[in-house]
Parts: sequence; structure tokens; C-alpha cells
Amino acid sequence: MSFSLDDDTPLAAAAKAAVYVRTGLMGTFPAPARTRVMTIVNQKGGVGKTTTAVNIAATMALSGLNVLLIDLDMQGNASTALGIEHEEGTPGTYDVLIEGADIADLVVSAEGFETLKCLPATIDLAGAERELGGENDSEWPYLLKNAIESYVAGNDVDYIFIDCPPSLGRLTVNALVAVSEVLVPIQCEFYALEGVQQLMQTVDLVRTNLNPHLEISTILLTMFQGSTNLSAQVAQEVRAFFGEKVLEAVIPRNIYVAEAPSHGQSVMTYDPGSTGAVAYLAAAREIAERGKNNGGK
Ligand SMILES: Nc1ncnc2c1ncn2[C@@H]1O[C@H](COP(=O)(O)OP(=O)(O)O)[C@@H](O)[C@H]1O
Ligand SMILES: [Mg+2]
Repeated sequence: MSFSLDDDTPLAAAAKAAVYVRTGLMGTFPAPARTRVMTIVNQKGGVGKTTTAVNIAATMALSGLNVLLIDLDMQGNASTALGIEHEEGTPGTYDVLIEGADIADLVVSAEGFETLKCLPATIDLAGAERELGGENDSEWPYLLKNAIESYVAGNDVDYIFIDCPPSLGRLTVNALVAVSEVLVPIQCEFYALEGVQQLMQTVDLVRTNLNPHLEISTILLTMFQGSTNLSAQVAQEVRAFFGEKVLEAVIPRNIYVAEAPSHGQSVMTYDPGSTGAVAYLAAAREIAERGKNNGGK
């Protein structure tokens, strides 16, 4: 009996994809001319914000770029997914926003990555939402922006991603003020566009009042189920509405994507041959290609 690594077999395709993701990435993404900062936001929970933040960040880092992931959700799911400690009291995003700590002093390297750092989030952030914006405090929307600007000034970083909580509160406003680009993951399911209108209004408000450079630059379709007409319909609807902002790459629903965080890993390292990893690789590549001239504005 012979065993051939034929392109036609799913196993062979997965093995090839894994090798490609592991070895083919190095140095293949263009670095932006200056640091590109993107906020990943959608006030709906469970649409794939954290999964997208972690896997796009990991992919960029695997290609050799310097990446910082800022966890802005008190649940700390992005920190967990990178195997980073975030028990209550662990210094992280809260300390940067409320105590004026420097990001550079608190970042942690993600396990197994040389160029991926994370600013962890803890449950303490629940308090930050209340503590921001006391009486006579007009500076609160700019705290994250200022902290990021200091970090960028003193550190070599190509990409910064901010993983937002599922709300449009003051933490998210900080994230929208700190960037010129917003990435919105949209889950391919019924009601996908519900809430997006509200998100767009918030983005408009922030642009008008706080950050004239703000733009929804990128839409990523997540949890696509090829077996359903509904996924295809939603994808079509989102493309009709947002046009070229929508990445061509679509992230399928994939068990390895869902499992990876419980191993403290991105899917790019947990199962690089999975359809989820291959799709995130394609999405990250598109983002990098679009940003190589570092427009973003
Ligand atoms: N492509 C995918 N395939 C399978 N499960 C996914 C996928 N993307 C996300 N998930 C799972 O869906 C849940 C919600 O995703 P998450 O990224 O945490 O969303 P959000 O940050 O928007 O709340 C998580 O359990 C995650 O593991
Ligand atoms: Mg999340």
C-alpha cells in the first residue's frame, strides 16, 4: 500500500497548509511605513472580535513584524488566548488608563513568539469604565491615545491591535480616539447587521467630536458556514453595504479556532493547517497589503 501526499487529499492539503503557515510566512508581509494602529470593535458579543485580534496579531508576528495587542476587555480573553496571566491585580490596561503607567513597562511577550507582545486586561477594567470621566475631566477620551503615542515613540512596533469589550462605553471610546482605523468583525448569521448602524453612529460621533481621522477601514466576515444559505446571504448583504472595505478572505466556523484559546494559543500555532488558520493568514495578508503605503487615513 502506498501513501501519496497528493493535493487531492484533505490530509495532504492540511499538511501543506501547515508547512506554509509555519515556514512560508517569515518576512513576507510588508511592514507599514509607520506604526499602524487598529481597533477591533463591534458592540455585539461573540462575533469574533477577540479571535480576530489574537489571530491577526499572531499572524503578523509570525511573519516577523513587531506587534502589540492591547486587551481592553475586562474578561481578558485575548490575554488568555495568548497564554498570558491576567488574574485580578496583574498590572495591565487598567494601570495604563487609570494610574498613568507606561505601556512599555507592562507588556508581556506571548509564549512562543518573539515579536508579539500583549498588554493584559483584568477584571479591574470593570472599575475603569466608571472611573473614567469624572467631573471636570475632559481628558478621559485621550488616555489610551496618549499612552499609545508614548509607546510608539519609544518602541519599534509595526502593528498595534486593540481588542474592545462588547459595548460602546468609555473604554471603547478611548479605543476609537486612539486610532485612525477600525476593523469590524461581522458574524455571518441572522441579525448580522443589527447593531452595525449604532456602531457607525458612534464612529461618526467620535470622528466629529474627538478624532477627525477615524474611519471604518476593514470589515471581516467571521464564522462563515459554507453549508448554509444564510451565511452566503449575510456575506452578500455585508459586501453590498460596505463594498471594498470587506476583506475577500472570509473566516469559516472551525473547531480548531474555537479550541485554540483553551490551550493558550492562537490557531496559527495550535493548528496551522486548519481552514481557520489558513483563512486568518489570508485576512492578515490582505490587511498588510492594504496598509503597506500606510494610508489608514
Ligand atoms: N471562526 C470560528 N470558528 C469557531 N468558533 C469561533 C470562531 N470565531 C470565534 N469563535 C468562538 O466564538 C466565541 C466568540 O468569539 P470571540 O472572538 O470571543 O468573540 P467576541 O470577542 O466578539 O466576543 C468564542 O468561543 C470563540 O472561540
Ligand atoms: Mg472578546
